[in-house]
Amino acid sequence: MKNIVIAVDGPAGAGKSTISKIVAERLNIEYIDTGAMYRAITLKIIRKGIGLEDIDSIKKLLNETHIDFINGRIYLDEEDVSEDIRKIEVSSKVSDVAAMPFVRGKLVELQRNMASLKSVIMDGRDIGTNVLKDANIKIFLTASVDERAKRRYKEMIEKGNDVTFEDICRDIENRDRIDSTREVNPLKKADDAVEIDTTSKSIDDVVNEIISIVKKVGVKA
Ligand code: CDP
Ligand code: CDP
Repeated sequence: MKNIVIAVDGPAGAGKSTISKIVAERLNIEYIDTGAMYRAITLKIIRKGIGLEDIDSIKKLLNETHIDFINGRIYLDEEDVSEDIRKIEVSSKVSDVAAMPFVRGKLVELQRNMASLKSVIMDGRDIGTNVLKDANIKIFLTASVDERAKRRYKEMIEKGNDVTFEDICRDIENRDRIDSTREVNPLKKADDAVEIDTTSKSIDDVVNEIISIVKKVGVKA
């Protein structure tokens, strides 16, 4: 039986990780959050006080970094950084780090290794167009900027972050721009992806839509 490979792409706050996690549980397959990997590298760069113009130091840091997912948590050099990578300080720098071709080269290789020999649902920005071009199913999630910013703001406030709605709007618009205009593998819907606008849809609606696409395609986990 063929492994099932689902690629989920879209901008920040479209619902990728929430929905992918639930689909993974329902199908009993692995969920891989590639955004968390770019965030982990960015966190390490910030902690070490390395400037984004210092390419040599970032290349060296990449070679000395170990990233792992264990039980849905992300580990950076064996430290659980699942909460720290979500801070606004990381969000505001991550797209510039993710635009560096050598950073992408290293992380894409890791992502392909993680997805080999297993059934997976992987989310990010370039999964359907680059990382897993041969995925059986490709989903492109979108929502209006206002809706995405509202969702992310609610989430940040609930987690006790000291941010304003304007901070979140600015961050999301800035990342949308950098992610979709960078030279290497920009955020873009794959030609063969199914686009789902989640603006006025519940999480359950979107999960059910994806599960019904999986059933239609006829692959088994
Ligand atoms: O969760 P949120 O949508 O805010 O972002 P994320 O998925 O955690 O991704 C953080 C950032 O990493 C994005 O804004 C992109 O700059 C970058 N990223 C990327 O370039 N390629 C991916 N496959 C995943 C994330
Ligand atoms: O991963 P991505 O940045 O695309 O989005 P997310 O982190 O999964 O979703 C951001 C927030 O929106 C979460 O708090 C979700 O619960 C919420 N959400 C929602 O309210 N309705 C949806 N249809 C999808 C997500």
